[in-house]
Amino acid sequence: SSECEYRPFKQRLLVVANRLPVSAVRKGEASWQLDVSAGGLVSALLGVTEFETRWIGWAGVNVPDEIGQKSLTESLAEKRCVPVFLDEDLVNLYYNGYCNNILWPLFHYLGLPQEDWLATICSFESQFEAYKKANQMFADVVNEHYQEGDIVWCHDYHLMFLPKCLKEANPNMKVGWFLHTPFPSSEIHRTMPSRSELLTAVLAADLVGFHTYDYARHFMSACTRILGLEGTPEGVEDQGRLIRVAAFPIGIDSDRFTRAIQLPQVKNHIKEFQERFAGRKVMLGVDRLDMIKGIPQKLLAFEKFLEDNPNWRDKVVLLQIAVPTRTDVPEYQKLTCQVHEIVGRINGKFGTLTTVPIHHLDRSLDFHALCALYAITDVALITSLRDGMNLVSYEFVACQASKKGVLILSEFAGAAQSLGAGALLVNPWNVTEVASSISYALNMPSDEREKRHNHNYMHVTTHTSQEWAETFVRFVELNDTVVEAELRT
Ligand code: F6P
Repeated sequence: SSECEYRPFKQRLLVVANRLPVSAVRKGEASWQLDVSAGGLVSALLGVTEFETRWIGWAGVNVPDEIGQKSLTESLAEKRCVPVFLDEDLVNLYYNGYCNNILWPLFHYLGLPQEDWLATICSFESQFEAYKKANQMFADVVNEHYQEGDIVWCHDYHLMFLPKCLKEANPNMKVGWFLHTPFPSSEIHRTMPSRSELLTAVLAADLVGFHTYDYARHFMSACTRILGLEGTPEGVEDQGRLIRVAAFPIGIDSDRFTRAIQLPQVKNHIKEFQERFAGRKVMLGVDRLDMIKGIPQKLLAFEKFLEDNPNWRDKVVLLQIAVPTRTDVPEYQKLTCQVHEIVGRINGKFGTLTTVPIHHLDRSLDFHALCALYAITDVALITSLRDGMNLVSYEFVACQASKKGVLILSEFAGAAQSLGAGALLVNPWNVTEVASSISYALNMPSDEREKRHNHNYMHVTTHTSQEWAETFVRFVELNDTVVEAELRT
């Protein structure tokens, strides 16, 4: 590894992800406003400065005209970003359809959307074709910008075909693919009509990475059972070629959060929130408004807690920040209504003339307000039904150096494997268990809180996003070295 660390120049890295780190809003024929996109991948990679990085991805906006495409390309170039232009029909079939209506629920063990499953199956072929077409369009843009020696890092379930498209055009390109969601048990994956094609396309990469060892194991067993390939301790073997498969747990840029807590504007927010919630314990949930996050289950558990513990009713508040996402997909629209209904019911039941037990916001917060909220929170409540990693749990811990609050964390989040010893792990489907964990957390003695927090804090501040990215990229390079050495012997 020391050879990799000593470089006369920075390694060029092409990061390819469905979404760019900035989203574009059109302000005029040729003028654009660029906002930082939400999401774990973006915040993780923004802190990585080790490489000369270019981002390639969809700008999240339909730009049918040439003037618009040219001016947006120029604006994005200043941010080292390169757009892939997808038209509305393609986005609908590829992103809303195949990615978010099929792959997303299956990879999170939710099954196909219940109400329109027939329509989903009927449109499967056209969505899959659109998925392949979109992946080829990403590959075309990568090929335009690729220079020999670059490492290409493909991200997530949107781009499972990308390694195949890239290697077809350039077999020598160094390609890594990383999944940010869980990879499900092979029993789930084998229900997919396109099960073999997806696996084969990913296996064109040199390195395949996951957040946890379990996801890597599921992937390898899918390759064995569905493709008949042999698994080895290093990965999967296909006709004498070794494709490395391994776990690379992501982290956060923890310094960004620990520094933010010291800023005057964050301190002002902290003071303001402390005054606002004086006399009450603060519980916090921060989630994209997505069914995998288990928000309805969390609300039901909080309701059960209030029912069972009348003495706490006016002494605790749950702040739920629910960031809208994928709002064109009907399942997400239904979820929003369901969450609003439950919040209304609980507030109606337990609210008083002056207080409500749940503050629910359908929007994101700016970074400084978010850090302040993390810092004043007594108990963070993360109840994902499944979650690739869940970096909100890491962000909370990073902001808790003085308060040392409690983290209640779903055992089905990847983060449970790294923060399990410090957090209170729960099964989000067991409302009674979550309710009693809330009670335990609110009453936890300070020495236990401190011990648990210290464990988590140590992990979050040492397993950073920078370290994650550097390790992954080093492994892509390592793969190359190993292959060369093998060829020489
Ligand atoms: O977890 C997968 C992921 O791609 C994350 O990187 C990101 O937080 C989220 O999904 C974003 O989803 P979308 O781009 O559909 O809003």
